[in-house]
Amino acid sequence: MPSVPPSGEPAPADGALPPASLTGLGTRPFGVYVHVPFCATRCGYCDFNTYTASDLGLTSSDDPASPASWLEGLRRELDLGARVLGAAPPADTVFLGGGTPSLLGAEGLVAVLDAVRASFGLRPGAEVTTEANPESTTPGLLAAIADAGYTRLSLGMQSDVDHVLAVLDRRHTPGAAVSVASAALDAGLRHVNLDLIYGTPTETDDDLRRSLDAVLASGADHVSAYGLIVEEGTALARRIARGEIPMPEDDVLADRYEIVDDVLTEAGFGWYEVSNWARSDAARCRHNLGYWGGGDWWGAGPGAHSHVGGTRWWNVRHPARYSAALAEGRSPAEARERVTPDEAHLEQVLLELRTSDGLAVSALAPAGRDAGDDAARDGLLAPDAWAGGRAVLTRRGRLLADGVALALAER
Ligand SMILES: C[S@@+](CC[C@H](N)C(=O)[O-])C[C@H]1O[C@@H](n2cnc3c(N)ncnc32)[C@H](O)[C@@H]1O
Ligand code: SF4
Repeated sequence: MPSVPPSGEPAPADGALPPASLTGLGTRPFGVYVHVPFCATRCGYCDFNTYTASDLGLTSSDDPASPASWLEGLRRELDLGARVLGAAPPADTVFLGGGTPSLLGAEGLVAVLDAVRASFGLRPGAEVTTEANPESTTPGLLAAIADAGYTRLSLGMQSDVDHVLAVLDRRHTPGAAVSVASAALDAGLRHVNLDLIYGTPTETDDDLRRSLDAVLASGADHVSAYGLIVEEGTALARRIARGEIPMPEDDVLADRYEIVDDVLTEAGFGWYEVSNWARSDAARCRHNLGYWGGGDWWGAGPGAHSHVGGTRWWNVRHPARYSAALAEGRSPAEARERVTPDEAHLEQVLLELRTSDGLAVSALAPAGRDAGDDAARDGLLAPDAWAGGRAVLTRRGRLLADGVALALAER
């Protein structure tokens, strides 16, 4: 979710979509994303749309920015979504992201899933994921959400090394994410992801290897690993600007990516997107595959982005404005846009190229195919796959994925 939303045209107050967007609904995967905009404290590197209780100045539970008002607003938005999509398909996937969904507690998480069931409905076998932070995830919470129908937990681990967690301002201690991951599997959640950040200033190669060893010991069947991004306006960016800590270096980030890929591959994980590895096909995140494959999704909650049939829109960011709009019977959408054919082409290339299935060469324009010939010759695209009609990144290509995609997207 970008911190600066694109501009766009005003979105109608009743949330209606252009009729063309509703064509083909149900023939593409349909996901529901729920944004939980609350955190106990803000990590110095994070610029997601999330707020602490003191940011919101909360004094009572009926404050329009409170979690209780958010849940009420969310129920209204999901009902509005089901009305707007009409005979919408039930959700194939549900993903609660944040923020810190585990701060809602078991009761809140179960209430959110009940609200999705009561509005869009859930397809049998739906994948239902919640993100969680180790320090707010108890065995009782895990048992209750598994019982309610959650199938997957995505835990923010970032590192298993004390001094790295300290630079990142994380509240949990080494070992915490690993024990929550094992407890989640014991509680009956079928799949567990651990999020890692590599390239944090002061992290060494050995620190990263220790974190990866912990991941492998945890039983998690999925890993998302991102190089640390220094986002403008964050506490981390200010500390770097003051010279307190160094900027992560591109060469170091590339070496660390290779360590992650080597260790996980050796342990039987396979990459299926540049930053995502899974132990088996069943462990891949179907919700994210929907984003990358041009599926439809309704993003509910403050600042959430949605995409249905070539229209995308995004909600107001502040929880108080969000719940107030819905309490007044208005859509919380701030603005929307129709995706142009050029934008759709660029997005398809950028997203599909990042996956291990790659991109059909037939989707490229002649200039993009010429660029692909060069990339295959330069070792950035797998030559056999290219000859067979697919653009699939080599490992060196994965390190330069965006640049390769921009070249392939040329028309
Ligand atoms: C925004 S968090 C939400 C989930 C949960 N609160 C947590 O912290 O894990 C989702 C993931 O985004 C990644 N992330 C957030 N900001 C990042 C940054 N500046 N650089 C790299 N990864 C980042 C982290 O790995 C994090 O686990
Ligand atoms: S807990 Fe997660 S969402 Fe909250 S500030 Fe930290 S990284 Fe961001």
